[in-house]
Amino acid sequence: MTGTGIVKAASIWAGGLLLGLSIPYLPRLSSPRLTSFIGDFPVPDYPFAFPFLKSHTGNTTALAKAPFVCDASHTYRTELVSLEPLVIYIHDLITPAEIASLLETAEPRFAPSQVTKYGRQQQTSDRTSSSAGLPRDDPAVMCVLNRTRSFLGTMLRDGWDEMGPPQLVRYTSGERFNMHHDWFDNLQWAPDGSSRKWNRAASFFAILQDNCTGGETYFPYAKPIVPASPRGEVMWQGNLNQRQSDGTAMKPLWREHEDGGLAFRPVAGNAIFWVNLHANGTGDVRTNHAGLPLDQGLKTAMNIWPRHYYPYE
Ligand SMILES: *[C@@H]1O[C@H](CO)[C@@H](O)[C@H](O)[C@H]1NC(C)=O
Ligand SMILES: *[C@@H]1O[C@H](CO)[C@@H](O)[C@H](O)[C@H]1NC(C)=O
Ligand SMILES: *[C@@H]1O[C@H](CO)[C@@H](O)[C@H](O)[C@H]1NC(C)=O
Ligand SMILES: *[C@@H]1O[C@H](CO)[C@@H](O)[C@H](O)[C@H]1NC(C)=O
Repeated sequence: MTGTGIVKAASIWAGGLLLGLSIPYLPRLSSPRLTSFIGDFPVPDYPFAFPFLKSHTGNTTALAKAPFVCDASHTYRTELVSLEPLVIYIHDLITPAEIASLLETAEPRFAPSQVTKYGRQQQTSDRTSSSAGLPRDDPAVMCVLNRTRSFLGTMLRDGWDEMGPPQLVRYTSGERFNMHHDWFDNLQWAPDGSSRKWNRAASFFAILQDNCTGGETYFPYAKPIVPASPRGEVMWQGNLNQRQSDGTAMKPLWREHEDGGLAFRPVAGNAIFWVNLHANGTGDVRTNHAGLPLDQGLKTAMNIWPRHYYPYE
């Protein structure tokens, strides 16, 4: 980011003008635990938007850590979950070596997660997790961003759109993130000083640590692409025909939630991908989702929010 970019981000931050996310309307939800209306904005989406933290985040090569080598030939597997909205389950998106490197980079950066409410960044009881911004010049971050960029294909225009700064989020016992959406109600100004605005076109939510019980990611409006036939077959729950290496049956990766919708079990290395915006650029409320509370243990995930840019009008 340029000097003026930093100043601009800092002044936006200081003015409390970041975002003004409003509140998704959730007519069909009744559980009070899930109907807290908040916008989504975890940590500032601008790199180094906290100028006073720059000394900690600016120079990653100064951190002593083993050199990371990107396995550019790594492959993953995908399964369609939902078409409207588009939700794709991705197996093995992030390798164990990438997870180790990402965690090492992020560990000193974790701070209580914030959201934007009433137009201001703040901590709230709606989101009781920790977040860590990741530097985009870190080799493991670049490796994962290259892979996820390829996944997006024609959804991104190189040189116009961008992958955006990724972020890790961590939940421990009892922590959660109430129902929210990742897209913004109001377009965001480009951080590069160009007269452009952007929104989060899609989301990758990749699990890095799954040492926990509970902590599913819940999409109340997601449903299988086709309903069960008159024979009432069990929904496809993530290639359960396969067996684990020790021969035991695979556990379902997602399930139908008792209040409707689908809930995804956290599994390290795997990711959920979904498309946030309609073709006309408005946000899709059917992508509303929640991080259900962790009963115990630790869950760490990586958020990647590719940005769709619009010319300023
Ligand atoms: C980062 O720190 C390393 C080691 O201290 C140094 O060699 C390098 O020049 C620094 N890079 C920048 C961009 O400051
Ligand atoms: C990511 O892709 C860019 C552009 O194709 C390339 O220059 C860079 O070396 C790649 N980085 C990694 C870590 O794969
Ligand atoms: C945008 O498209 C969605 C989905 O087709 C539609 O529901 C919505 O009304 C449209 N909004 C505008 C402002 O055109
Ligand atoms: C998480 O891992 C630690 C150490 O490996 C273990 O002691 C603990 O029981 C695990 N917790 C859960 C919830 O699996």
